[in-house]
Amino acid sequence: MLTSLQDTVTLNNGVKMPWVGLGVFKVEDGQVVVDSVKSAIKNGYRSIDTASYYNNEKGVGQGIKESGVPREELFITSKVWNSDQGYESTLKSFELSLTKLGLEYLDLYLIHWPVKGKYKETWKALEKVYKEGKVRAIGVSNFNIHHLEDLLIDCEIKPAINQVEYHPHLTQVELQEFCKQNGIQLEAWSPLKKGLLLNDPTIVNIAASHKKAPSQVILRWDLQNKVITIPKSIKEHRIIENADIFDFQLSEEEMEKINSLNLNERTGADPDTFNF
Ligand SMILES: NC(=O)c1ccc[n+]([C@@H]2O[C@H](COP(=O)([O-])OP(=O)(O)OC[C@H]3O[C@@H](n4cnc5c(N)ncnc54)[C@H](OP(=O)(O)O)[C@@H]3O)[C@@H](O)[C@H]2O)c1
Repeated sequence: MLTSLQDTVTLNNGVKMPWVGLGVFKVEDGQVVVDSVKSAIKNGYRSIDTASYYNNEKGVGQGIKESGVPREELFITSKVWNSDQGYESTLKSFELSLTKLGLEYLDLYLIHWPVKGKYKETWKALEKVYKEGKVRAIGVSNFNIHHLEDLLIDCEIKPAINQVEYHPHLTQVELQEFCKQNGIQLEAWSPLKKGLLLNDPTIVNIAASHKKAPSQVILRWDLQNKVITIPKSIKEHRIIENADIFDFQLSEEEMEKINSLNLNERTGADPDTFNF
């Protein structure tokens, strides 16, 4: 059983990644993101999920520096954006992310979306920076099974992570099973469905019976389903609340009840039809 915010999962290359991290999508660069990152780290988070697309890597880097926690104790993820995909442009974008973050290496670098005709070249660039030791693990985001199958045919290094939209209305059972079979760890984005699941009566009832908040029940459900989770908040009390999920356990029956809320419903784009 997981007992602390600093508990990790071992990825397919032996690197350890925290089960819980802070997401910073749509968090404004500058003081807002600096404060969220510092607040998360102060309250025990060790993993931060950003992306070049979020336009806040500079502030994330500043928050990391000001946190006072040694770099090697942190786990920092960034992602290459769609318009930067391709071999040379990915290498450039990777270096730019490092510069903005003020870091010498990343812990995880992801292909943000499976851009048709490009993601294989992009993956080669990720393999290169991985082999050079500039990133400790590489992975993908928003890949469906057929994207993964296609990548696995001729990649040299297997993706360690697939970060996808995942919450009780989108439980991704087949994708998770495929990832498990292939040693790819699933990671949940929008784990709280952007706040839209917090009034669901099933979740509210389960939360009440454990004297926990609905957000905590959902995030605990992620962990018990063996899915890494990266809730976003810019409010310190919620950053603390979202991490306080290690003192209770959902029963099998409760897990099943939450699993059965699935509607295959997305808040974001579908990886098979996205147009950006
Ligand atoms: N790879 C991708 O394509 C992709 C796509 C989307 C997101 N992501 C990553 O996943 C992270 C999380 O996803 P997300 O930001 O879309 O959504 P989310 O974490 O599901 O939800 C965030 C929303 O819920 C609110 N919230 C957070 N904790 C709460 C709590 N305890 N009680 C009530 N409300 C709460 C936040 O508001 P406040 O901030 O005001 O508290 C915010 O509006 C992102 O930040 C990003 O790092 C990746």
